[in-house]
Amino acid sequence: MREGEHVLDEGRQGEATVVAGPGAGARKLYLESYGCQMNFSDSEIVASILSDAGYQTTRNEDEADLVLLNTCAIRDNAEQRVRNRLVHFKGNKAKNPSLVVGVLGCMAERLREKLLEEEKLVDLVVGPDAYRDLPNLVDHVEGGQKAVNVLLSREETYAEISPVRLDSSGVTAFISIMRGCDNMCSFCVVPFTRGRERSRDPQSIVREAHELFAAGYREVTLLGQNVDSYKWNIDNKGVIKDDAQPVVRFAELLEMVAAVNPDLRVRFSTSHPKDMTDDVLHAMSRHENICKYIHLPVQSGHSDVLKRMNRGYTREWYLDRIAAIRRIMPDCAISTDVITGFCGETEEEHQATLSLMDEVRYEMAFMFKYSERPKTLAERKFEDDVPEEIKGARLQEVIARQMIHGKERTQALVGKVHRVLIEGTSKKRDDQFFGRTTHNTVVVFPKGDLQVGQYVNVKTFDSTPVTLMGEVTDEPSES
Ligand code: SAH
Ligand code: SF4
Ligand code: F3S
Repeated sequence: MREGEHVLDEGRQGEATVVAGPGAGARKLYLESYGCQMNFSDSEIVASILSDAGYQTTRNEDEADLVLLNTCAIRDNAEQRVRNRLVHFKGNKAKNPSLVVGVLGCMAERLREKLLEEEKLVDLVVGPDAYRDLPNLVDHVEGGQKAVNVLLSREETYAEISPVRLDSSGVTAFISIMRGCDNMCSFCVVPFTRGRERSRDPQSIVREAHELFAAGYREVTLLGQNVDSYKWNIDNKGVIKDDAQPVVRFAELLEMVAAVNPDLRVRFSTSHPKDMTDDVLHAMSRHENICKYIHLPVQSGHSDVLKRMNRGYTREWYLDRIAAIRRIMPDCAISTDVITGFCGETEEEHQATLSLMDEVRYEMAFMFKYSERPKTLAERKFEDDVPEEIKGARLQEVIARQMIHGKERTQALVGKVHRVLIEGTSKKRDDQFFGRTTHNTVVVFPKGDLQVGQYVNVKTFDSTPVTLMGEVTDEPSES
């Protein structure tokens, strides 16, 4: 789950998650992850690389030899939280001088040596494209030096590294399909922290999906900052690199993964409104196991704000994409991201966001106050001039509107039969399972003789604003 988000979906994982998984060896690694799903997915690559170097993950920070924080730089409060944790670990270091503390991920990339030199909070700083170098860098630190590698790469996709699945129910897993981002949304730090966009070899993606299915997983989420611009064997200008090989774009990749097994659900995140083609929508509608759920961040409902944000689309374009989704998949669920109080946002522009929300009626939304990030286009070009109280008040209005829509959407699902993939025991009741519908709505129901990882049809009889309650049934599912 993303940092600092206001999310109207209870079923998601915590903001910062401590991870532990299998591994062999004497030295202990304690790994904490912040930020987006890509960061959580990267932590599984880090655990794999360090497991090969003899590290075993632990959930207990007190027994760790190596503490790594995989960090997020998307908003200022994300960074503040990590700083507080680093001060805490500095205290642990005072008690145990041989403890190595490192910062990975987007803050590492953004702050680089500053974390080592000025703040002296850490021994190790490693950016998102340098994880293969981790064992070597840790050795350096153990030899008494500080270590840093924040080189970004145009090629690195960690394609052949088998992630160590951390904190996993054994049912759902992430697969990174690309890294970096070539868009320059003016508010966003990601292009600076994650570098240029590159796509991963489709064969390695399909192989990973097969392996996951064979290991009992029943759902994969394909991850990228802009999955719609996934491309293999073709460059940005449309020139094919190797005539003997097929060109694979996102729609084709989706179908390749969907073909792994009809019982393997496929999800993806994040789509970009400027790049989401009808091909992708048709691919989704052709395969029942591609979940009917699209996260399509709008950011603002006003074209002038979208222009200042450099998003590459207008309000009309965005609504046309929504219309295409509804035309091709009438029952597809749609969620979004919204930023309130971006530079120069007027009351009228803010109202346009609310009216767009009224038009679309999203199932779910991640909603944020604008947070200025150093080096971004917005920081250089515009003044962060919307007062904090107004940013906050607008955020509350956006949240209140989303509450109404989300509740309405959930209520409309009551009384229907849904096909649900069982993910685990409900947080609130031990005798109940929770799972998700194709629309990503959480459903809870009595456990009976069922097992995690099974599909069941559940007839729903009630709902909270974000969760459905139901009972298993023999009736055919309507979704
Ligand atoms: N690649 C994805 C999202 C990346 S970041 C996309 O393009 O949709 C996730 C969300 O964080 C963004 O969609 C945006 O809503 C929010 N965000 C990014 N930068 C922000 C900032 N400076 N202040 C507030 N929210 C921000
Ligand atoms: Fe950031 Fe825009 Fe890239 Fe998303 S598409 S990661 S918001 S620059
Ligand atoms: Fe944060 Fe980096 Fe993801 S800035 S949102 S962890 S790409």
